Amino acid sequence: MSAVIRGLGTAVPDRVVTNAELAATLDTTDEWVRTRTGIAERRIAEVGTATADLAVEAGAEALKAAGEQADAVVIATSTPDRSLPGVGPEVAARLGLGTVNAFDVNAACTGFVYGLAVAAGLIAGDIADRVLLVGAETMSRITDFSDRSTAVLFGDGAGAVLLSRGAEGDQGAVGPFDLGSDGDASDLLCVPAGGSRRPADPDAIAARDTFLQMDGREVYRQAVRRMVASSQKVLDRAGLTVADVDRLVGHQANARILDAVADRLGVAPERRFVNVARYGNTSAASIPLALADADLEPGEQVLLTAFGAGMTWGSTVVRWPSLPPG
Ligand code: ACO
Repeated sequence: MSAVIRGLGTAVPDRVVTNAELAATLDTTDEWVRTRTGIAERRIAEVGTATADLAVEAGAEALKAAGEQADAVVIATSTPDRSLPGVGPEVAARLGLGTVNAFDVNAACTGFVYGLAVAAGLIAGDIADRVLLVGAETMSRITDFSDRSTAVLFGDGAGAVLLSRGAEGDQGAVGPFDLGSDGDASDLLCVPAGGSRRPADPDAIAARDTFLQMDGREVYRQAVRRMVASSQKVLDRAGLTVADVDRLVGHQANARILDAVADRLGVAPERRFVNVARYGNTSAASIPLALADADLEPGEQVLLTAFGAGMTWGSTVVRWPSLPPG
C-alpha cells in the first residue's frame, strides 16, 4: 500500500520582480545574481495577499485535476498568515472540505518532502484516504529588501498535490524516504526574532531581526553535502542506482547548488531540472512548482531532494504518473 500522486496544482502571484528592479535600490547587478544563483526573476505577492490565498488557489487546482476531494490537508510552510493558528484549517474550509484533519508542517525549504512523508503516513495509518499537500510560501514577508545577500534569493508561490491510496509500485507512488536534521546548525539560517525566544519588540524590529538572516557560504556547503548523502540513501533504500534516475528535481534554491549536487551524484545535465531562474527560492513551494514545469513523462523515475533551515533535509523517489491537466 502506498500514497499515490493523483493531481497537481500551482499558484504564483502575478507580479514579476526582475533582478534589474532589485538592483535599482540595492548594491547588486543582474549579472551578479544570475551568475551566483541562476535566478533571473521572482514573483512577489501584493500587499494583502497571504500564504493561505496562494495555497487555496494551488490546492483547488490539484483537487480539480485529480477530480477528488480530500479528507486531510497538510500545508508545508514557514510563512503562515499568522503565527497562530496554522493555515491548514483555513485552507481546508475555504476549499469547501469542511471539518477535515488539517494542519501545518514547518520544515522550511524541506517542507514539501517532509509533507509527502506525513501524507504517506496519514494514508498508511488509515487516518485519511485522500490528502491534499500544499507547499505554500510568501517568503517576501520575511525577506529584508535592504540586505543584498538575501533579498535577491527568495520568491512567493505555492504548489499542491492530491495523494490517495494505491498499490506499491503504482506510477505516482511516493517513497521510500530519507529525512534528517541538524539542530546544532539552526543559527545558520533563521529569523532571529518574532518567536517565543525573542519577541518582535521595537529593538528587534529596529535591528531588522524579524527578517531572515543567513550564513550563505556555510548553508551552500551543507546543502550540497546533505542533499547528496540523502539522495544516495534514498536510492539505496529504493533499490535504485543513479543510472535509474530519469530526472533529478531538487529544491530550487540556487542553480549552482543543484549542479553541484547533480555533479557529485553523477546525474547528467539533461536529467537535471532547474527552474530557479523564474521563481527564485520559494522554499516549501519550490519542488511542486518545479514538478509542474518539468514536463515529466509518465513512467519517468524522479528523485526529489531538498535542504533548508533547521537545518533539515530529505529525499524521496516517485515514478511519475500520468496526470490529468489542472
Ligand atoms: N550582489 C552583489 N554582491 C553581493 C550580493 C549581491 N546580491 N550578495 C553578496 N554579495 C557580495 C558579498 O558581500 C561578498 O562581498 P565581499 O567579498 O566584498 O565580502 C561577495 O559578494 C561574495 O559573497 P559570498 O557570500 O561569498 O558569495 P557566494 O558566491 O557564496 O554567493 C549566495 C552567495 C548566493 C548567497 C550563496 O552563498 C548561496 O546561494 N548560498 C546558499 C544560500 C541559500 O540558498 N539559502 C536558501 C535557503 S537554504 C536552501 O534553500 C538550500
